[in-house]
Amino acid sequence: MKAVTWHGKRDIRVEDVPDPVIQEPTDAIVRMTTTNLCGSDLHLYEVLGAFMDAGDVLGHEPMGIVEEVGSAVTNLKKGDRVVIPFQMSCGSCFSCDLQLYTQCETTQVRAHGTGAALFGYSKLYGQVPGGQAEYLRVPQAQFTHIRVPEGPPDERFVYLSDVLPTAWQAVEYAAVPDGGTLAVIGLGPIGDMAARIGLHKGFRVIGIDLVPERLQRARERGVEVLDLTEHGDGLGDVVRELTDGRGPDSVVDAVGMEAHGSPVNKTIQTMASLMPDFLAGPMMEKAGVDRLAALYSSIDMVRRGGTVSLSGVYGGAASPMPLLQMFDKQIQFRMGQANVKKWVDDLMPLLTDDDPLGVDTFHTHALPLSEAPSAYEKFQKKEDGYVKVIFKP
Ligand SMILES: NC(=O)c1ccc[n+]([C@@H]2O[C@H](COP(=O)([O-])OP(=O)(O)OC[C@H]3O[C@@H](n4cnc5c(N)ncnc54)[C@H](O)[C@@H]3O)[C@@H](O)[C@H]2O)c1
Ligand SMILES: [Zn+2]
Ligand SMILES: [Zn+2]
Repeated sequence: MKAVTWHGKRDIRVEDVPDPVIQEPTDAIVRMTTTNLCGSDLHLYEVLGAFMDAGDVLGHEPMGIVEEVGSAVTNLKKGDRVVIPFQMSCGSCFSCDLQLYTQCETTQVRAHGTGAALFGYSKLYGQVPGGQAEYLRVPQAQFTHIRVPEGPPDERFVYLSDVLPTAWQAVEYAAVPDGGTLAVIGLGPIGDMAARIGLHKGFRVIGIDLVPERLQRARERGVEVLDLTEHGDGLGDVVRELTDGRGPDSVVDAVGMEAHGSPVNKTIQTMASLMPDFLAGPMMEKAGVDRLAALYSSIDMVRRGGTVSLSGVYGGAASPMPLLQMFDKQIQFRMGQANVKKWVDDLMPLLTDDDPLGVDTFHTHALPLSEAPSAYEKFQKKEDGYVKVIFKP
């Protein structure tokens, strides 16, 4: 089959790889009909190469049609239409009983001390072949699927794999009080959708980014937008001016470790991405090579006693954090990968023909898999209006 494979920093190829087969009774094989590119893929493209091997298949936002199921998968059959969550979870362990599906004890990657295995997401998360391919092997398929109805186009449902539950969890974790104000830092797909969900829930939403068309998309939906390139270091003051001098009740950081505006850490990250894996791996894991501009903005901007919700992905164990300010302001923090299936019942009623969250028109580019190399490049450089790419294998 054709698949999108990683070969090195900014080196993505489309190659023939062996078709996946059932390996465990709990597996299923799904034929991909739509499979997305995500901001999280850009971390593999740029800074997490130490945890990748040449030929690893990328992708974790897939949907399609079940082709085959293992003997233990009694709740799926050939022909079913399914979205596959980006994490694999068993549905019946201690963590899954708590709906902490990203911490599933059956799929946890203990060799790296990380949580549930993720599709197409490096050795840190199990090195499981991903969904930017014609077919996907789904481990723990008895639970790792979301059945969706026939009829509407894939675009209606495919974001249940990641964008929708991630943005929903970001806003839930932000604990915005009734009638309160939510600031969303970063208006890529995740921040854009978190802003839409914030508006849908009746909050005032302030959105911040530096890419003109991303600001424009959010503005069109009723978000008050601020351009980082205009406000820079004064951003916190500008946001406080808009919020009675206090700052927003809650802030979602939807940027993560490749934030613009932190040159020192950028240098360390670039060094790590050029080093041999055996040196770069420990450096990326332990040395705190993050670029923390967006996180620092969140801490600065949130009102005293407010909540910061991190959905942007951070790495590094020695990241310098402004603990005095965090303690003094009595800030609450919540974070983590989205527990996808926890939020499906909240989201499904919003995926109707009147499309309150605008999912049908959310993608900016629908492309064949063969265009993956240029799509990664343009999405990373934010060129030609690339915001959300969906592939049609
Ligand atoms: N928690 C989860 O489960 C989960 C799931 C999916 C994605 N993510 C993470 O969420 C983040 C966003 O994903 P995405 O798909 O929207 O990616 P993206 O890279 O398209 O979006 C990031 C946005 O942040 C903007 N930005 C960069 N620096 C900024 C700064 N200092 N201030 C304000 N804006 C800034 C960029 O212009 C861009 O629009 C990534 O870190 C991704 O890994 C987390
Ligand atoms: Zn994703
Ligand atoms: Zn589990």
